[in-house]
Amino acid sequence: MEKIALTGPFDAKMQAAIQNELPEGFEIVLAPTPEEFDKLQDVDYIIVRTVELREKTIKTLRKLKFIQRWGVGYDIVDIKAAGELNIPVAVMPGINATQVMELTLLMILAVYRNLIAMHNGIFEGQWPRNEFMKRSYTLSGKTVGIVGIGNIGRKVAKRIQSFDAEVQYFDVFRLSAEQEAELRVRHVAFEELLKTSDVISLHIPLTDENKGLINKKTIALMKPTAVVINTSRGGLINEADLFEALQSDRLLGAGLDVFEHEPLEKDSPLRSLKNVIMTPHVGGNTVENNSNMARRAIENIVKISSGRAMSAAELVNGQFLKK
Ligand SMILES: NC(=O)c1ccc[n+]([C@@H]2O[C@H](COP(=O)([O-])OP(=O)(O)OC[C@H]3O[C@@H](n4cnc5c(N)ncnc54)[C@H](O)[C@@H]3O)[C@@H](O)[C@H]2O)c1
Repeated sequence: MEKIALTGPFDAKMQAAIQNELPEGFEIVLAPTPEEFDKLQDVDYIIVRTVELREKTIKTLRKLKFIQRWGVGYDIVDIKAAGELNIPVAVMPGINATQVMELTLLMILAVYRNLIAMHNGIFEGQWPRNEFMKRSYTLSGKTVGIVGIGNIGRKVAKRIQSFDAEVQYFDVFRLSAEQEAELRVRHVAFEELLKTSDVISLHIPLTDENKGLINKKTIALMKPTAVVINTSRGGLINEADLFEALQSDRLLGAGLDVFEHEPLEKDSPLRSLKNVIMTPHVGGNTVENNSNMARRAIENIVKISSGRAMSAAELVNGQFLKK
């Protein structure tokens, strides 16, 4: 029997979706927290959700053949350490792009219309009709700046245009002229995007190079009515600097699905703001998507088990593997 560990919390529906795809000859081991990582000693495969898999852990797992990330970002896995032990690490490109795009649109509109603050006001017995009118905005006619025009960025670009917003983007890899024309987007330098966008939405992976990309200096370039949306990774934003800007109305608002430290600290000052909308890193997760993700993970595990090659688009540590 080959063993597949699920690390990080996998709720009952996720587990059922994985069980449903499981071929004969495989069994599941649950190790939701690092305290239970001793159960990983004899596992062959890991599907990792939200706990970190660092070098110290990976090095002790003698039987481990493959790590599959449940989702797209892979900053929680030490891909170099895994690669040097000849353990491939794969992600699921595009698997939850639609879900993250939908949350992104929801957040932009909700910040523009102060949805949560007004809802809470009514819930608390008020009728906050006038309080928020001076800070309510229309998306139509605005310029949305997308940082990273990959799977999610492209979907956001496409859908946001149905609100008659214009889209500009910055990406380290520029699209071809044909792709830009088809998507109706224009490429601008990062600084220009910050200066001229009404909404700035981040859709890039977190790396050592772009940690704290949004900080005091970059915020200073933005319009005072700018909205920052982050559904990518918390580390892309210096949270203390963002808090300062939101509290002093240097920015209009923010929508955050991801944080520097997750779960967000109980005493985080962000919790005191009315102009921020926060969700607990759920951008990619909807009930419908569990079965797609389970299928993708098990397909890859079966591939590795039967000695077939991993798709290059899914493999993220090919450069470290022994050829
Ligand atoms: N909130 C969630 O639940 C959730 C779910 C899925 C993905 N994500 C995050 O969203 C990110 C984007 O996902 P995706 O599927 O669109 O990824 P992707 O790989 O398809 O696209 C990323 C794009 O960013 C560009 N890029 C990389 N570094 C850049 C930089 N410093 N500046 C400008 N452009 C840069 C790349 O060229 C690429 O076009 C993921 O890395 C992940 O961290 C979050």
